[in-house]
Amino acid sequence: MTVGPESEPAGGAAPRPRVLITRRMFPDLVADLARRFDVVDNQDDARWLPAELAARLAEADGVLVDPGMRVDAGLLAAAPHLLVVSNVAVGYNNIDVPACTRAGILATNTPDVLTEATADHAWALLLAAARRVVESDRWTRAGKWRGFAFDAFLGADVHGATLGILGMGRIGRAIARRAQGFSMRVIYHNRTPPGPANPPQGTGPAAGAAACAADAAEPTWVGQDELLQTADFLVILVPYSAATHHLIGAAELAQMKPGAVLVNIARGGVVDDAALVAALRAGRPGAAALDVMEGEPQFNPGLPGLENVVLTPHIGSATSSSRRGMVALAIDNLSDALEGRRPRALINPDAWAARRQPRWSQA
Ligand code: DGY
Repeated sequence: MTVGPESEPAGGAAPRPRVLITRRMFPDLVADLARRFDVVDNQDDARWLPAELAARLAEADGVLVDPGMRVDAGLLAAAPHLLVVSNVAVGYNNIDVPACTRAGILATNTPDVLTEATADHAWALLLAAARRVVESDRWTRAGKWRGFAFDAFLGADVHGATLGILGMGRIGRAIARRAQGFSMRVIYHNRTPPGPANPPQGTGPAAGAAACAADAAEPTWVGQDELLQTADFLVILVPYSAATHHLIGAAELAQMKPGAVLVNIARGGVVDDAALVAALRAGRPGAAALDVMEGEPQFNPGLPGLENVVLTPHIGSATSSSRRGMVALAIDNLSDALEGRRPRALINPDAWAARRQPRWSQA
């Protein structure tokens, strides 16, 4: 569907930028965008074949994409006018950023606006796995409840336990802040240990989250092995890349405590899900909660058969306000790029100096 007036106005005025929106998004925000740009949207949320997508991209000056859409060098080659790829997600492993930079195309993402919602969901997963909420819900619905039992669905204590965060950044800090309410010790691992150029990752409020108090004890940096061996709850938050592919595999899982809980809220592929299935069957770790899976929306067929697994379909940031905030920021990034301003959440600053010139400014 196309919304907005025709792109070639009479009288020689500059044509309006053409924007492609690849997925269904908030209609009022799309309508607002269409007041300024010529928009081709996808409010039916149809799955475009690669050739259909390439054909639409060939006409576009800017595109809004979701984290499930791969933007690679081949696709970029089919987009001669494209000035900006605006990802409606903070993680951008779906975008070949070096290829964008080589082509002078700006790439942007949506940090901060989803930090608190994603931290909330990490906690929902952690608590659900620790206290066997989903498993016992299924059992209760199945009509199996015959009365109180002292040994029914015994879970793990969250209060007073050790929370380990692999990949401490904005979302990790927000998760760590919440751990204070559970009197937890918080440890974390980032590849670079804290030092003068890399301050310790405290629990201060993330940008845009001034309402959250920062009254926490500071998380402690530890080596990866110590993190794996010590954490009662391990939350995975590292971005996905070739370097982090299967960062958590059989050897790493074997280091975890029996009974520990693994939460993956980063990206499928950081954890080797086949190794995780085998490890869960062996009880080490004791449970897992996954919002992201390798090959999603497909996932390892061993996962659904395991009672000690909680699965959610990549909804970490899925609150109305957070998802609206993501789309609004992605639109701002896109508008900035199309109107000649440096986008506020530019992933590839190197592309700015060598950015493509818009087709309407070319002779
Ligand atoms: C992100 O922003 O990277 C999330 O995974 C999508 O909500």
